[in-house]
Order: sequence, then C-alpha cells, then structure tokens
Amino acid sequence: MPKLWLAANWKMNKTVSEGQAFVGRLVEQIPGLIKPGAGEVQVLIFPGLVSLQSVATAARDTTIRVGAQDCYFEAHGAFTGEVSLPQIKDAGGSAVIVGHSERRHVIGEDNRLVAAKLRATINAGVLAVLCVGELAEERDAGGAFRVVDEQLETALAGLAGVTERTLAVAYEPVWAIGSGRSATVPDVEEMAIFIRERLVEHIGEERGKDVAIMYGGSVKPGNLSGYMSIRDITGALVGGASLDADSFAALYREMEGQ
Ligand code: 13P
Repeated sequence: MPKLWLAANWKMNKTVSEGQAFVGRLVEQIPGLIKPGAGEVQVLIFPGLVSLQSVATAARDTTIRVGAQDCYFEAHGAFTGEVSLPQIKDAGGSAVIVGHSERRHVIGEDNRLVAAKLRATINAGVLAVLCVGELAEERDAGGAFRVVDEQLETALAGLAGVTERTLAVAYEPVWAIGSGRSATVPDVEEMAIFIRERLVEHIGEERGKDVAIMYGGSVKPGNLSGYMSIRDITGALVGGASLDADSFAALYREMEGQ
C-alpha cells in the first residue's frame, strides 16, 4: 500500500469534459503518475458520479485511482436515485467516501446509515474513506472528541475483515471545510492520535495501526506540509484546492517533498 494519500473530492463540480481535461493537465504536470511509476503518493480522485467512468478511463494509463463520493448499501433494487457498489466498481471506481460531513449535515445522513454504507463498502472489497468531524459549536462546547468517538463507534463496532486496503479515516472538522479556516496542526495532531487509539481498539493493533488517517478542511498549497508532519496523518482529502489541476499538482509536490 502507498504510504501517503492525496485525495481530491470534487463535490458537485466539473462536467465530464472538465474532469477529463483535469487528468490530462495533472499528468502533464506530474509525468511520474504514468504507469508503472509507483511513487510514494497515491492520488485518488472522487469526481461526481456522472464523470466517474470517464475520469477512470482518462486515468487508465496512470496510477491515479478513482472513487465515488457516496454509495448505497444495497447491491441492487428499487432505490431510485441511489448508486450501488457493484455499479461503482463496474464504472472503474475502487474507493468510496462514506459519511462526508455534507452528506451528514446537508443531506441528513445519520450514524446508522453511515455504518450500513461503510459495512457494504468494506464487504465489496472497496476502499472506504470514512469521514468524521465535529461542528464548530460542538468543538466550542468541548465536545469534539465525544462526537468523533461516537461517529467511529457506530461505524466500526462489530466490523469484521477490515484492513488498510478497505478502510481509511478522514478527519474533517466541519468548521474547517470550505471556510478558509484550516485547523491548527496541534489540534489535528491531538485528534489523529485519538482516532488511531480508537481504531486500534475497534479493529485490533495489527490492522488499526496501518489504516490511513487523512486530514481535510481548507487544505491548500502551503499548509499541507504542516499536517503531513504529524506522525499519524498519512494523507489529505482536499475539496476546493483540488479543482484546479495546477494547484493539485502543487499539493502533490508538497506531499512528495515530505
Ligand atoms: P475544502 O478543502 O474545500 O475545505 O473541502 C474539504 C472537504 O470537504 C474534502 O472532502
């Protein structure tokens, strides 16, 4: 497995042709992404579902992995508007973001639904990037650790067969997302240590120590290396700064320089 993850969450941005153009430009900037070129940094792109297949095709000769921003937990059936893991895999996806704060707080997903999606993703052999993180008022009230603990507990309790190939955790404090107000390095470090402890407790020392923990929330060129200096942080999940191929390439170089 790669040591470091650089993930782009495009959210509800980019058309099919814009997604394809991004891959072309990124590879121009970072030729080392062309296969076999297995560098230290694994790039993972989460386009909108409509462009999942075309981005996967554009990235075919590269080491870039592609995934979906969400999934449903059933494999097929009468679930209008939802997308299943077999569909995502067939379109070229090998990862899914589970429980992103915008799914939780804008769309209204609760911990139980997130847990069902996590279980389905892991059972499908797909990498689940489980997002956890507290709201500003929860942090201000001293409840950040309790909230993250609850999110991890409901998602991970009783999970079998999970490894670093099927699970990564992204700590994304909600108040830092898209706000330009990134979390401080000590705050992220404290939470990363806590998440590592909880992972070990839930899935065992052997597997818990290898699960990637990413930071997300207003990551941009210039502030990434601070987060990457934290021992337990092995990746970043980037929104706004991942939309432009040149800025994403700058993040890649910053991560590679670690
Ligand atoms: P921003 O990088 O735009 O703050 O978004 C972070 C995020 O939500 C990634 O999933």
